[in-house]
Amino acid sequence: MESSNNTQSPAVRLKKSESSFEAAIREGLGNYPKRLPSRFIYDKEGDALFRRIMDMPEYYLTNCETEIFEQQKVQIIDALEPLGEGFDLVELGAGDGSKTRILLDEIIRRDMDFRYLPIDISQNALSGLSKKLVAEFTELEILPQQGTYFDILEEMQQWKERPKVILFLGSNIGNLLHPQAIDFLQKLRAVMGPSDLLLLGCDQKKEPQIVLDAYNDPAGITEAFNKNLLERINREYGADFDTERFIHWETYDPESGTARSYLVARESFEVTIPDLDMQVNFEAWESIHTEISQKYDNRTLEWIAGETGLEIAASFTDSRGYYKDYLLQVPK
Ligand SMILES: C[S@@+](CC[C@H](N)C(=O)[O-])C[C@H]1O[C@@H](n2cnc3c(N)ncnc32)[C@H](O)[C@@H]1O
Repeated sequence: MESSNNTQSPAVRLKKSESSFEAAIREGLGNYPKRLPSRFIYDKEGDALFRRIMDMPEYYLTNCETEIFEQQKVQIIDALEPLGEGFDLVELGAGDGSKTRILLDEIIRRDMDFRYLPIDISQNALSGLSKKLVAEFTELEILPQQGTYFDILEEMQQWKERPKVILFLGSNIGNLLHPQAIDFLQKLRAVMGPSDLLLLGCDQKKEPQIVLDAYNDPAGITEAFNKNLLERINREYGADFDTERFIHWETYDPESGTARSYLVARESFEVTIPDLDMQVNFEAWESIHTEISQKYDNRTLEWIAGETGLEIAASFTDSRGYYKDYLLQVPK
């Protein structure tokens, strides 16, 4: 699915190292300890499961960011007014855009000159998003781009004609540990012009049980989401993973603010992946690390921004202080 072309915009070539599911399986399941990157959860089934996660009462992140946008869209879009002469609104990992539409609505209401460039590894997500937004906002100029963040960052080097407002919402940054996040933001900083802005959604540290529940709900939706990595290997490469043989396991370290998702084998067994000519052995209680969901506080974010060469211009939080959107700018 990562290699399928987008019919509405030029196809973006994906770098094999970052975007090939096959390479990730070979490397991640061929090594010890085993790991599979969470970005490969998002195929059609993974996108649908993530939409169900966003509706779960335990997954507070979506409600918090929705509340921030609904209550503070005026202040957020006020900060973009200096770019009123025309800008590109670039969204990294746009997903279904259900929250972004609140900001789009406010920008359109003010008749600002802009075009919207959503980027996602999932062509399925982009197609759904485009269809929905085109129906809702008839005048919206939308240019979806399929690819990974890093592919698109390279492409962005050429988008210099107009200032950019980059949206990185939904705590997508939280899928990166601090050194990777700093590296990522430095690359983003390198393609930002002096008046470009970055709106960065960051889940905040909070009562540990609330964090754990968001990634381990009693209905098993987050479990199914995590296990979609294995189901996807079954579907795309003919593997014989029996996902019942794995436990979905979540941990949260309140000191580092890092939540981690694992799949843990209940017993020893062998899995065959015929299309990749691979056999994978699992020992009893061996794990596959699948996802990082990093939580932040102001101090950490200030440090990360400083390391990146950006500064915090403003921040917007929800009524419970669970989540923050930071507006980052290039120091004047
Ligand atoms: C957790 S969802 C969040 C979606 C949306 N930003 C929101 O706030 O609701 C993450 C989205 O980012 C996309 N994604 C994950 N890793 C990616 C990567 N490395 N490059 C591009 N897109 C990625 C997924 O396909 C998915 O649609």
